[in-house]
Amino acid sequence: MFRSFVVCMLLACAASGGRVRGSALDSVADGPTRQREASVKPGINEPWRSRNVAPLIRRLESESREIWVQRDHIVQVVAPEPGMIIADIGAGSGFLTLMLAERVGPRGKIYAIDINPTLLDEIRKRAQTKGLNNVETVLAAEDSIPLAPNSIDVVFMCDAYHHFEYPKSTMRSLRAALRETGEIVMVDLERIPGKTDAHMLEHLRAGKDIFRREIIEAGFELVQEHDVPELIENYVLRFRKSRANAGLCQ
Ligand SMILES: C[S@@+](CC[C@H](N)C(=O)[O-])C[C@H]1O[C@@H](n2cnc3c(N)ncnc32)[C@H](O)[C@@H]1O
Repeated sequence: MFRSFVVCMLLACAASGGRVRGSALDSVADGPTRQREASVKPGINEPWRSRNVAPLIRRLESESREIWVQRDHIVQVVAPEPGMIIADIGAGSGFLTLMLAERVGPRGKIYAIDINPTLLDEIRKRAQTKGLNNVETVLAAEDSIPLAPNSIDVVFMCDAYHHFEYPKSTMRSLRAALRETGEIVMVDLERIPGKTDAHMLEHLRAGKDIFRREIIEAGFELVQEHDVPELIENYVLRFRKSRANAGLCQ
C-alpha cells in the first residue's frame, strides 16, 4: 500500500517534470492521510442547489444556449453505442441523459449524476414518462462521484467540469469508476480573454488549456480534441486513462 503510494508519487513527479507541488489541482495537504482539497471556486454551485428547479431548467433548455441548440451534434460526438454504460456527470435537467439513454438502448445504462436531488427527481420523472428504464439517478457528493469501480464505458461531462469545486478528488473517483478501456468526453465553454464576455470570464475559473492539463495530471491522456463545426462557444475533449500510471494512483 505504502509502496504503491511512493511509486505513484514518483510517477506523478516524473510526469510533471519533477513538479508535484504548485499544480492547478493541489490539495491543502495531500498524502497518505489525505485532507480535503480547498475549493477551487467557492460558491459556484449556490444557484444549482436550489429546490426550485424550474428556472434552472429554463436556463439549460434555452434557445440562447449553444449546448441546447446543438444537442444532436453533442450526442453524436459522444458516440453512444447500444449496450454502453455512460455516466452523465452534472446531468442538470437531463435532456442529454435521455437522448443518450435512447441511443444505448435497453442493454445499456445511463447514470444521471448531480449534486441537486430535485434535478434528479425531475430526470427520473422524465425517464419514466418516456418509458426509459435504463436511466439511474445518483446523488453526487461535492468532492466525489459514488460509482462502482471499473463499471463505466464513458464519463460524459457537459458544462460540468468547471462546476467541480473539488476537481482533484472528483476526478480521482471518476478514474476509479472508469473501465480500463473507458473514455471521458468533456464539453466545456471556451474562455478567451478579449472575446468571452465579462460575466463568463468571471464564472469560468479557467479555460481549455488549464482544464486539459488538470485532467492529464489526474491520470488521463488526451485522445483527441473533436472539431465540431456547429460548436462556436464550446470545445470537446476526449481522454482515456493514461497507460503510464494505470492502476497505481487510484
Ligand atoms: C451548467 S449545469 C450543466 C447541466 C447539463 N450537463 C447540461 O449541459 O445541460 C452544471 C450541473 O453540474 C452540477 N454539478 C456541480 N458540481 C457537481 C459535482 N461536483 N458533481 C456532480 N454534479 C455537479 C450542477 O448541479 C448542475 O446541474
